[in-house]
Amino acid sequence: MGYNDVYEAWKSDPEGFWMEAAQAIDWHEAPSKALFDKGGDMYEWFADGMVNTCWNAVDRHVEAGRGDEIAIMHESPITHSSKGITYSELRDRVASLAGALKMRGVEKGDRVIIYMPMIPEALEAMLACARIGAVHSVVFGGFAAHELAVRIDDCTPKAIIASSCGLEPGRVVHYKPLLDEAIEQASHKPEFCVVFQREQEVAKLIEGRDFSWHGFQYGVKPAECVPVEGNHPAYILYTSGTTGQPKGVVRSTAGHLVALQWSMKNIYNIEAGDRFWAASDVGWVVGHSYICYGPLIAGAQTIVFEGKPIGTPHAGVFWRIIQNHRVKSFFTAPTALRAIRRADPDGEWIKRYKLHDLQALFLAGERADPSTIEWAQKHLGVPVIDHWWQTETGWGIAANPIGIEELPVKLGSPSVPMPGYDVRILDEGGHEMPAGELGAIAIKLPLPPGTLQTLWNAEERFRKSYLTQFPGYYETGDAGMKDEDGYLYIMSRTDDVINVAGHRLSTGAMEEVLASHPDVAECAVIGVADELKGQMPVGFICLSSGVERDHAEVCKECVRMVRDQIGPVAAFKLCAVVERLPKTRSGKILRATMVKIADGESFKMPATIDDPAILDEIREALQGLGYGKKVPA
Ligand code: COA
Ligand code: AMP
Repeated sequence: MGYNDVYEAWKSDPEGFWMEAAQAIDWHEAPSKALFDKGGDMYEWFADGMVNTCWNAVDRHVEAGRGDEIAIMHESPITHSSKGITYSELRDRVASLAGALKMRGVEKGDRVIIYMPMIPEALEAMLACARIGAVHSVVFGGFAAHELAVRIDDCTPKAIIASSCGLEPGRVVHYKPLLDEAIEQASHKPEFCVVFQREQEVAKLIEGRDFSWHGFQYGVKPAECVPVEGNHPAYILYTSGTTGQPKGVVRSTAGHLVALQWSMKNIYNIEAGDRFWAASDVGWVVGHSYICYGPLIAGAQTIVFEGKPIGTPHAGVFWRIIQNHRVKSFFTAPTALRAIRRADPDGEWIKRYKLHDLQALFLAGERADPSTIEWAQKHLGVPVIDHWWQTETGWGIAANPIGIEELPVKLGSPSVPMPGYDVRILDEGGHEMPAGELGAIAIKLPLPPGTLQTLWNAEERFRKSYLTQFPGYYETGDAGMKDEDGYLYIMSRTDDVINVAGHRLSTGAMEEVLASHPDVAECAVIGVADELKGQMPVGFICLSSGVERDHAEVCKECVRMVRDQIGPVAAFKLCAVVERLPKTRSGKILRATMVKIADGESFKMPATIDDPAILDEIREALQGLGYGKKVPA
């Protein structure tokens, strides 16, 4: 069957399609049906099945006689180490940690925050939670204590599992002081913390609250897998929305298993025994779906990479790992390729390695610019496949499913919708746009298995954020179009979310931090186009009347505040003081116009602008920061 047949098979019988896909999962009790309509546009998948994620990702492969195969390969060019963990070892390690969590009172449904860098223990912690039905929430290491505190208060974890440190090139990330500070800031206090002590930094433990990873597990009885209902939350993953309060995406267990298993074979062409590598971070959705769960559910080998595409130690590190571990499908963000291309424009590093096993390169996380794709096609000689998805969906909305059929690649397009996704381009009134015309991208409900069930503790926000604008549809927050062949083109966000080096960030959250500076009366943060990172945040601040401080100094303080409160990952380094912000007569800040000026695009003067002269000041400020140079006179 080709792609069209598979997509049509889903369309004509979604229930049958997903029930068949569900057969690839080991159930404790098989579900009686796939879709459960809860009313009010709320849906669940395989809700009455009983199943365990860890069993499917680990134990079943050992039972099938594949215990001696490598499950996780850790590659850390930063610590110069390389280590493999077999499926049997993984099962024992996870069962031991799960047993210890259970002994300390962590039960099914309890939340556990995981704050760890790219080490196998991060995956073990996730799987240990899944083994006993605890709900994990992994927090990315590039976030500061305040962001961690916000998540602690939102999901009220019984325990936190952390590492003593993370390693960025040339810098140790001190996780433990950040953890202590976050617990101090949060109103909710976890009952205990488990700290994995890395040899690069041994953290000071707080007696009675903190346990060391090994001591915690000493002498405990390993835990068995606990079957949970299909609609039981597997995890909560926070992602940026329009405000400083992140959205807690809830992924339920059974849909997650079925969808990931389906995607591994059909999108990535990966089966048991194959080697798959997603060079992302466990703190992001890509890390959840395709570093941890997807490859392991499929029984493949996954690679946990602690390093960067360049500088650890060189721009050939990706290709070395692909060669040494005979990676079949590789997944990274376009920004990583741009960084490599800048360091190695002629692909000299690529030529040094044998990439015989590599069958395709997958890109996602941000728009893949055609010239980067062409560069990769030319130097790697394999299909370069852009695919589009979000934290909310957990797996590809649109892709080129090479496991079914390799469709022609169209540069600038992540190809076609996957089964389960009925993607429409709508105008403001919810009417479908003709092919080739730009509109809001929406997906007809129900969303497929594996997508978000709701937002943690925020069902109303879930409805308001995703379901209200276009009744009967999920609003993706992306704008784009479809061509005559049904290929999708994702052009921009329709909200204040920006994408910096493949990291999804909220300009609203940055504005909240800037607004809390005592000398700032008003502010706006926009995302401007950046050659390497895709977008970069730029802040504009207006000082309170009577403040006569040095502008550079106030900006420096603002940059520091964003780094301290959101984290280094915000990459907020560009800030300027302006007299006023451009606004409509009703007081709305004209952010989109500011972005156009920054990116050197032509724009129509907004009819409702209060004072057009302000735009000149914005342009000057942008030019001072190195942007907005190509503005037409
Ligand atoms: N823990 C702590 N700090 C982190 C971090 C982590 N896990 N990840 C990033 N940071 C820090 C970086 O050290 C940097 O700090 P600095 O301001 O002190 O230099 C800051 O956050 C910004 O990081 P980033 O935007 O990633 O820039 P970079 O210069 O370190 O690297 C790239 C640039 C392009 C090489 C890198 O962004 C990259 O590999 N991106 C791919 C992203 C990706 O895979 N995203 C997942 C979506 S699929
Ligand atoms: P995240 O939730 O961090 O995965 O970010 C999701 C957002 O990243 C999407 O809503 C898009 O705006 C953007 N994005 C992800 N993949 C792509 C892609 N292939 N092309 C264009 N934009 C993408």
